[in-house]
Amino acid sequence: MIRILIVDDEQSIRHTLSRFLLKAGYQVDTAESAIIGKQMFVAKPYDIVVSDIVMPRMTGIELMEFIRTIDTQCRILIMTGEATVETAARAVTAGANGYLNKPILKEAFLADIESNVRAVEENKKKEKISIQKDQYRDLLENTVAASTETLKRSMASIIHLLSDVTEYRDPYTSGHQRRVGNLAAAISRKMNFTPEFCNMVRAIGYIHDIGKMIVPSEILTKPGKLNEIEYKLIQMHAQSGYDMLQHVILPKNFAIAIGQHHERMDGSGYPNKLKGSEILFESHILIVSDVVETMMTHRPYRPALGVDQALEEISYFRTKKYHPEVVDACIELFNKDYYSLEDSLGEIHIPL
Ligand SMILES: [Fe+2]
Repeated sequence: MIRILIVDDEQSIRHTLSRFLLKAGYQVDTAESAIIGKQMFVAKPYDIVVSDIVMPRMTGIELMEFIRTIDTQCRILIMTGEATVETAARAVTAGANGYLNKPILKEAFLADIESNVRAVEENKKKEKISIQKDQYRDLLENTVAASTETLKRSMASIIHLLSDVTEYRDPYTSGHQRRVGNLAAAISRKMNFTPEFCNMVRAIGYIHDIGKMIVPSEILTKPGKLNEIEYKLIQMHAQSGYDMLQHVILPKNFAIAIGQHHERMDGSGYPNKLKGSEILFESHILIVSDVVETMMTHRPYRPALGVDQALEEISYFRTKKYHPEVVDACIELFNKDYYSLEDSLGEIHIPL
């Protein structure tokens, strides 16, 4: 229901106008001063305010200026007995939607009110549509966010599954990939890479030996020394990992870094004898993490060598085989931050 407020210090005008409006079916209140009108508006805003200009203590223009500070949609009609072009212009400038000359004639007054009622209804309709649009957009955004989250979580769970499947075939290295991934993420954090990069390096580490799926498990678990053919078969896991992942929908660095995790700075690695900057930075981090983790943990053919020997190895071959900045970050991580190898599941976030 449209609510209308009449503000005039002349009682006869208040009565006459409110009678016109009540008869026409509107809900009407009256105020005998602009100050009372202001208080009534603050208590409960009106759709249309019809106000006299000249009133004691507060004018109709001042009332209108106040209303405009809290409500831009309310329709305001100004009326006066001393109609001049200046007062009309001032009223419109201050935000009036209409200007009525006294004496006010019933038909013209109701026609004015009617057209303002239509404007109010139109505004309310637009406001409703705009609220519905906002609600729809919020719903859509929430749905997309929820689906993206589900997708990310399912991708992360598939990474965990692949990690576990690889290690089931080689129980002697159980947890190796997770420890490498967690160490690679810690080195990346130490080097101030973004959280996205750190999480991605972790995820790559978790499946970096996926190519071992093609290696017979008797070779993977063989306690003694490997012969040349067996060694060559094991070495194939880096290229196989790349081949297996290159068509999977993951950031392309996954397949590349996995294919390069046995390369070395001086070109002495495999499978492609890449050198220095030909190797992806993610791979450089993975390479150091893999070497350190492998040396620090027990293998069927030898006991764990310990952190000191592992750090000595990367330090000795700093620049020659391993990226110097990665080596420095890794050494600092163990010697200053007392990092210890961690095989618990870390947060995996794969950029979509
Ligand atoms: Fe490997």
